[in-house]
Amino acid sequence: MLENIEKYIEEVRQFEAAHLDEVEQFRIRFAGRKGLINKLFDEFKQVPKEEKPRYGQLLNTLKKVVAEKVEDLKSKLQNQAAATPSGFDPTRPGYPYRLGSRHPVSLVRNRIIDIFRRIGFNVSYGPEIEDDWHNFTALNLPEYHPARDMQDTFFVELHPDWLLRTHTSSVQIRYMEQNRPPIRTVSPGRVYRNEDISARSHLMFHQVEGLYVDTDVSFADLKQTLLYFTREMFGENSRIRLRPSYFPFTEPSAEVDIYWGLKTETDYRITKGTGWLEIMGAGMVDPNVLANMNIDPEKYSGFAFGMGIERIAMLLYQIPDIRLLFENDLGFLKQFKSVL
Ligand code: PHE
Repeated sequence: MLENIEKYIEEVRQFEAAHLDEVEQFRIRFAGRKGLINKLFDEFKQVPKEEKPRYGQLLNTLKKVVAEKVEDLKSKLQNQAAATPSGFDPTRPGYPYRLGSRHPVSLVRNRIIDIFRRIGFNVSYGPEIEDDWHNFTALNLPEYHPARDMQDTFFVELHPDWLLRTHTSSVQIRYMEQNRPPIRTVSPGRVYRNEDISARSHLMFHQVEGLYVDTDVSFADLKQTLLYFTREMFGENSRIRLRPSYFPFTEPSAEVDIYWGLKTETDYRITKGTGWLEIMGAGMVDPNVLANMNIDPEKYSGFAFGMGIERIAMLLYQIPDIRLLFENDLGFLKQFKSVL
């Protein structure tokens, strides 16, 4: 019996393996639950008394060399695998791609587009460098119309007629040049105004314009569409109110407020204590604009609306300063949803 154990010890010392699964087989054979070591321990009870100390000692040695051998071979084989290309382990999980995140302006723009797509609006685009006609004149702002003072404009020196568009309403005009009613389109894009940069305004920002032209379009359709939008965007309990306003290209015109509430001090500050917050301009397309586009205002009517994306992003994400949106600070940007 004693020689038996000595033979095992010798066998263990000699053992070599080329693969980790051979090591595992070896470990199971000796140190597994039904392995040799446990069997030998069971037999210990039948060992004659005078042999017990020697037997016990050898058995402990066997246990120890098995454990050492397993550890040695394992670490040797693992190191080899890491060091040699042939040890490439195809089962190892890959390094994850570091995905970027979407810009908050893109996230909000995509949501706005999605909401209007669901009720049949398509998406249209226009150029950021516009001419006077599309940005002003066709929108019912003749050259000396005082409303031109409403927007401070960047003009392009290359050409007296060129400017950076001050609103996405110019895309309404481009769209009506190319398409006949029924029209349902939203036009997202960047716009420019010659304004001082502050926490609340920037000389470059983004808008989404909406245009709906068909027979029998009423102000009620406009209100219902805007209510649908605000509920989808800000939650189903959202409330809106329309205040009379003036835009040359819509008649009647309105400014649209949503009820933001007065729960926090910030709410007081951003709503100037009223709880209401302006989120867009809107109105019924002025008959002059339709006529400019050779769409018969006797037969067709429509509504239009325009909103600032930054404004909504700042509300939704509680961003205190518009400049944060344009500084490309990764620490800021990475807080938003990843690309997937
Ligand atoms: N173009 C207006 C602005 O930039 C918004 C607007 C769009 C108002 C469409 C009415 C209709 O302020």
